[in-house]
Amino acid sequence: MHYRLLGRSGLAVSELCLGTMTFGNSTSEQDSTEMIHRFLDRGGNFLDTADVYVQGRSEQIVGQAIKNRRSEVVLATKVRMTTSPDMNGVGLSRKHIMDGVEASLRRLDTDYIDLYQVHVWDHATPIEETLRALDDLVTSGKVRYIGCSNFLAWQLMKSLAVSEANRYIRFVSIQPQYSLISRQMDLEMMSLCQEENVGVIPWAPLGGGFLTGRYDRNEPTEGRLTSKVGESAWVNRSTDRNFTILDAIRGTALELGKSPAQVSLNWLLQQPGITSPIFGASTLEQFEDNMGAAGWKMPAELWERLDQVSALPDDYPNRFITKFKRPF
Ligand SMILES: NC(=O)c1ccc[n+]([C@@H]2O[C@H](COP(=O)([O-])OP(=O)(O)OC[C@H]3O[C@@H](n4cnc5c(N)ncnc54)[C@H](OP(=O)(O)O)[C@@H]3O)[C@@H](O)[C@H]2O)c1
Repeated sequence: MHYRLLGRSGLAVSELCLGTMTFGNSTSEQDSTEMIHRFLDRGGNFLDTADVYVQGRSEQIVGQAIKNRRSEVVLATKVRMTTSPDMNGVGLSRKHIMDGVEASLRRLDTDYIDLYQVHVWDHATPIEETLRALDDLVTSGKVRYIGCSNFLAWQLMKSLAVSEANRYIRFVSIQPQYSLISRQMDLEMMSLCQEENVGVIPWAPLGGGFLTGRYDRNEPTEGRLTSKVGESAWVNRSTDRNFTILDAIRGTALELGKSPAQVSLNWLLQQPGITSPIFGASTLEQFEDNMGAAGWKMPAELWERLDQVSALPDDYPNRFITKFKRPF
């Protein structure tokens, strides 16, 4: 396992992050605990959860599993989604953040969160209020670093500017959906993150299971759809374009003697600007498969082949800006 610094920080995180969204749901508590220990034993140190995963059960399972290994772990969780039916049980107000952090700390059974992430932009709350509340949490020691998830590029840039103007702590990372079949972040977010040195920790790096090669073109998928690749997501993912990308992944996997999941994750590990993909695994078998993505490097020509087949069209304004790039 290799390690990378998370954005503009001194925090070293493993190149693979273990997602825990299924823990206590499709992954039994026993398997979840076993998975966390195997991950830590093999050098992984980065765990991602959220207050809303399995109604808080995921945080509880993670907290119990790492209780005696707390200092080894970079523990990431999130706030913003609905946690109670009252009007303030959602969003990025100071109130919901302060209530949310206390509830997460209790479930995680710890004194501090390493990376506290806002789950998605909140149009209702001024970002100044959100960042001031997060800054207070860092000052109080309850939180060590802050990150965001599911932002547009202007929302991240505005947040960084507000932090700078007010001397608040700034987001060290963003958690976007990003994979070989989901590269919308290439349009603006990836270049912003490189320019501003913000870490990128992609969710659904396996396309929710699609990129593991478990589906075939024209095959009836009824009964094979997973909890995350639900009917609507399946409609989005089972396009001709995505199957063409999957064909290239399968070909590469065959050439390298690796699995499609390993190739898909390894491609991300070598993508400039990516810090650590957050992979999910519902079973220990899937976990073992996915862990085989680390510790090797795919040859550049194979990486480029996958890059080309999955790249978005070179549209305006990027094409226009590149055309007039000066040679410096
Ligand atoms: N910030 C956000 O808004 C956000 C959103 C979603 C997720 N996340 C984070 O990102 C993590 C990963 O998300 P994700 O679960 O969507 O990502 P993913 O890694 O793309 O998909 C994981 C799912 O794919 C299937 N799978 C994984 N490895 C496999 C293998 N080797 N062979 C066959 N199938 C395999 C399993 O589905 P089955 O259960 O069907 O077998 C597994 O649960 C989450 O745990 C969470 O921490 C964040």
